[in-house]
Amino acid sequence: MGVYAYFLVLLLTIYHGAFSNGGITSSFVRKEAKSIDMPFHSDVFSHPPGYNAPQQVHITQGDHVGRAVIVSWVTQDEPGSSTVVYWSQNNKKFKSTGRITTYKYYNYTSGFIHHCKIKNLEFNTKYYYEVGSGGTTRRFWFTTPPPVGPDVPYTFGIMGDLGQTYDSNLTLTHYEMNPVKGQAVLFVGDLSYADHYEFHDNSRWDSWGRFAERSTAFQPWIWTAGNHELDYEPSIGETKPFKPFLHRYRVPFKESGSTEPLWYSIKRASAYIIVLSSYSAYGMYTPQYQWLLEEFPKVNRKETPWLIVLMHSPWYNSNSYHYMEGETMRVMFEPWFVQYKVDLVFAGHVHAYERSERISNIAYNIVNGECTPAHDQSAPVYITIGDGGNIEGLANNMTEPQPKYSAFREASFGHATLEIKNRTHAYYSWHRNSDGYAVRADTVMFYNRFWHPVDDSTTKNYQ
Ligand SMILES: *[C@@H]1O[C@H](CO)[C@@H](O)[C@H](O)[C@H]1NC(C)=O
Ligand SMILES: *[C@@H]1O[C@H](CO)[C@@H](O)[C@H](O)[C@H]1NC(C)=O
Ligand SMILES: *[C@@H]1O[C@H](CO)[C@@H](O)[C@H](O)[C@H]1NC(C)=O
Ligand SMILES: *[C@@H]1O[C@H](CO)[C@@H](O)[C@H](O)[C@H]1NC(C)=O
Ligand SMILES: [Fe+2]
Repeated sequence: MGVYAYFLVLLLTIYHGAFSNGGITSSFVRKEAKSIDMPFHSDVFSHPPGYNAPQQVHITQGDHVGRAVIVSWVTQDEPGSSTVVYWSQNNKKFKSTGRITTYKYYNYTSGFIHHCKIKNLEFNTKYYYEVGSGGTTRRFWFTTPPPVGPDVPYTFGIMGDLGQTYDSNLTLTHYEMNPVKGQAVLFVGDLSYADHYEFHDNSRWDSWGRFAERSTAFQPWIWTAGNHELDYEPSIGETKPFKPFLHRYRVPFKESGSTEPLWYSIKRASAYIIVLSSYSAYGMYTPQYQWLLEEFPKVNRKETPWLIVLMHSPWYNSNSYHYMEGETMRVMFEPWFVQYKVDLVFAGHVHAYERSERISNIAYNIVNGECTPAHDQSAPVYITIGDGGNIEGLANNMTEPQPKYSAFREASFGHATLEIKNRTHAYYSWHRNSDGYAVRADTVMFYNRFWHPVDDSTTKNYQ
């Protein structure tokens, strides 16, 4: 698009933003072509060369504070070795040996899935690691986070609903090429969309693992389960929800006192991240409810000022797709989010981008009729970032008028970055795939709710 056209869009956007009921409904014009999955023979799905070569390598945080990493990979021909050899610059090599798991799904049999936790790592250190055996080993690297502390700067990338289309590849490329360098990814669920295929063709889980490896092998992705991780299909005898996902992706749930890998927490630098499951029970007395009840009081904002929650199904979403699907969980948990002053909530599911102002809707008690979202400086900002580019395409049918609390919404593919500067400031940007790598399409300086609870709303006519 030419410079002139770009300014026109910008002007329209500003004009619209100033006079609509809510915030901005961006009028950015995008191609309407449907997203299609990259075929199996695409470059991004190529198998690494060599007999039994480790593939689909991915890492995630392996403990509560960032001194451990879970390394996972798949071997196809035979089990091979589950040992990870790792070392930091000029230091001796360490070894850790993990375990192999396999699973069957209808008529699909998985490769040998290896998970190995490496522990007692130094903070803030670059490590190299090697997996594989025989003649075929592969080497990767990652950097551990700085020690947990209140003013530690750290940059997260945020993606959701990625899938494996040409648009997914663009989203990942934009994340990689963004001059703002994410150090870890907060992933809000819906990975491979293998369930889009007949019998949930699980070789699409394998291809997704190979596609994402170029990022997941080098920095931790913090996993949230989405509905496309359920793979629940009684018609073909698959009645155990989350089977492929849980075999392939491990998280450090026991370290945060959780009893299930679908909800857990980690600390990383100056952030405390709570991951919730939209597709597990969360009503009163359920394990997830009980865990979260006990979890919030454990968060020490003097140690980790930034309290961030990840979930798949958004609570505040003004798109007509998946409208109000997150409502039951909101009813259960929102009072706690306000009480404990959660800074930010990231969700996916809706294939578009939306950012709310700080609002809550917790006054209602079934007889008082008080059921309107209200400006609330103790409440989080809700961000829907399900715009990774999967095969289901964009969700471009918004409810009208735009609600007052909705600060910015647009049906385009993209990703976000959160640059935590210190205990008071975090600079957030959303990037759309159709712009240049350095362009920030929506930006906000967020102020911490514990240390600097100053109004950071962006909609002029909102207050
Ligand atoms: C699974 O069954 C389907 C339908 O019968 C068939 O098309 C597919 O090739 C089978 N896959 C495997 C791995 O046997
Ligand atoms: C995916 O993106 C990468 C990086 O931009 C590029 O090298 C590759 O050719 C792309 N593959 C497909 C199938 O679009
Ligand atoms: C858009 O959403 C509205 C409200 O849910 C619905 O009535 C309408 O049919 C939708 N339009 C399209 C084109 O899907
Ligand atoms: C925190 O970061 C912001 C943004 O970079 C900066 O303006 C502010 O001075 C910093 N605060 C302290 C105490 O350094
Ligand atoms: Fe979803």
